[in-house]
Amino acid sequence: MTTPRPAAVIVLAAGEGTRMKSATPKVLHSIGGRTLLGHALAAARGVDPLHLAVVVRHGRDLVAAHIAEVDPDAVIAEQDDVKGTGRATECALYALPADLAGTVLVTCGDVPLLTAETLRGLLQAHAASGSAATVITATLPDPFGYGRIIRAADGSVAGIVEQKDATEAQREITEVNSGLYAFDVAVLRAALAEVGTDNVQGEKYLTDVLGIAGEKGLRVSAHLIRDLWQTEGVNDRVQLSRLGAELNRRIVEGWMRAGVTVIDPATTWIDADVRLGRDVIIHQQTQIHGVSIVGDDVVLGPDTTLTDVSIGDGAAVIRTHGSLSVIGAGALVGPFSYLRPGTELGAKGKIGTFVETKNAQIGVGSKVPHLTYVGDATIGEHSNIGASSVFVNYDGVSKTHTTIGSHCRTGSDNMFVAPVTVGDGAYTGAGTVVRRSVPPGALAINVAPQRNLLGWVHQKRAGTASAKAAMAATSALAASEQSPSVADDPANVTEGNATA
Ligand code: UD1
Ligand code: CA
Repeated sequence: MTTPRPAAVIVLAAGEGTRMKSATPKVLHSIGGRTLLGHALAAARGVDPLHLAVVVRHGRDLVAAHIAEVDPDAVIAEQDDVKGTGRATECALYALPADLAGTVLVTCGDVPLLTAETLRGLLQAHAASGSAATVITATLPDPFGYGRIIRAADGSVAGIVEQKDATEAQREITEVNSGLYAFDVAVLRAALAEVGTDNVQGEKYLTDVLGIAGEKGLRVSAHLIRDLWQTEGVNDRVQLSRLGAELNRRIVEGWMRAGVTVIDPATTWIDADVRLGRDVIIHQQTQIHGVSIVGDDVVLGPDTTLTDVSIGDGAAVIRTHGSLSVIGAGALVGPFSYLRPGTELGAKGKIGTFVETKNAQIGVGSKVPHLTYVGDATIGEHSNIGASSVFVNYDGVSKTHTTIGSHCRTGSDNMFVAPVTVGDGAYTGAGTVVRRSVPPGALAINVAPQRNLLGWVHQKRAGTASAKAAMAATSALAASEQSPSVADDPANVTEGNATA
């Protein structure tokens, strides 16, 4: 059955959420890399409504700014001083076109596991039964706090009564209101005009619309669903983490069914907007956040956290922390690498152990294998950066850029004092402090000649374990036949000069 397109979805998000005990409005708390409201908007968009309205009040500016960012086409409706879900819905209708006709869905901004598929099921059931209103319901072992569904003899819904307004007998009912509805908009509009605030909470209840429609002889139905997670709202941080864990369990399971190997689902966290290729293998303790996009045959983890990172086919990223970076196909990252924003590693490149990169473009086949900081740099193709080097990008006031060409071989323990350029095919010696640009094909060296001040330890550190060890070794060398004279090496300077 094709799903009828709704005229609008109204997302209620004006409530305060006091139990979160937070400076942040409840609907802006996140699970799975999206805010609660972000999840609600994604589900709403999934049924392709002509209009989408969000009702705001508490934390209005923050919530409105977030909506403008994640769903700029959504209409922001302000709730006034009148309290209640009915008033919130009415305020949304004021903000939508006056000639709106057909079906309107009402959902909550704090029910993050609800899917578009479930809303499609609601729309289909609503259309098939020809109802004026249909409410998603669930049967809970402990229905405390929820509105209870009062069924008529024919199985239709006679009304909904809130926990606080319910009689003892009504509180025994275990079928509850999820807070998710489909309405004929004309019926909704007319009924809301009749809803008062004569109840224990003094609020204008949306739930009263169902009773009013029923009294007018219109059909009101319940659409019972079994997946209770989809109706559960977040009220406090315990529920936030519970629903976050369940959302993650669903996402991880979905990827396994789509062809991803997850070695340890319990310690693997994948955000809702992550995309993974085929035959990706994820080892334990790996978190993939944000809008990360992973190609086919990639190995991730163990112990890896990536946020907004793109990874090409066949790459491996092991024990790495990275964000806002691009890793080329077949590249190798880790173990123990730190990729900061703006890192771009070319295909078959390498960022190795204890290497930190930031705003660094590292070309195809180039390697930064060990103990190095690459900040504000461009490295060409097939170059190798020696172990323990630093791209010295900060002079204490400003940051400047270093460029290394292609097919370069830089020595271990180099300092590239930016701004500096190393030409294609150039080499640098171990320990070089590169302060001046190196022409293509040149070897840059600037180390001072080494001097060995003979006997220095004996003189200056007399009596230490080092002095004793040196004495023993010197005697042994002198006694042995094969001792080449230390005087043969011009680096060696005699004892009397050991003043350094
Ligand atoms: C509501 C239902 C209840 C149902 C429960 C499901 C009513 C009267 N009751 O109860 O039958 O079982 O949801 O979770 O509708 N909101 C506004 N403006 C308001 C009040 C609420 O926008 O003035 C929004 C909230 O932000 C939230 C949603 O409406 O997204 C539900 O509000 P909440 O206070 O949680 O509803 P309950 O009183 O628990
Ligand atoms: Ca309430």
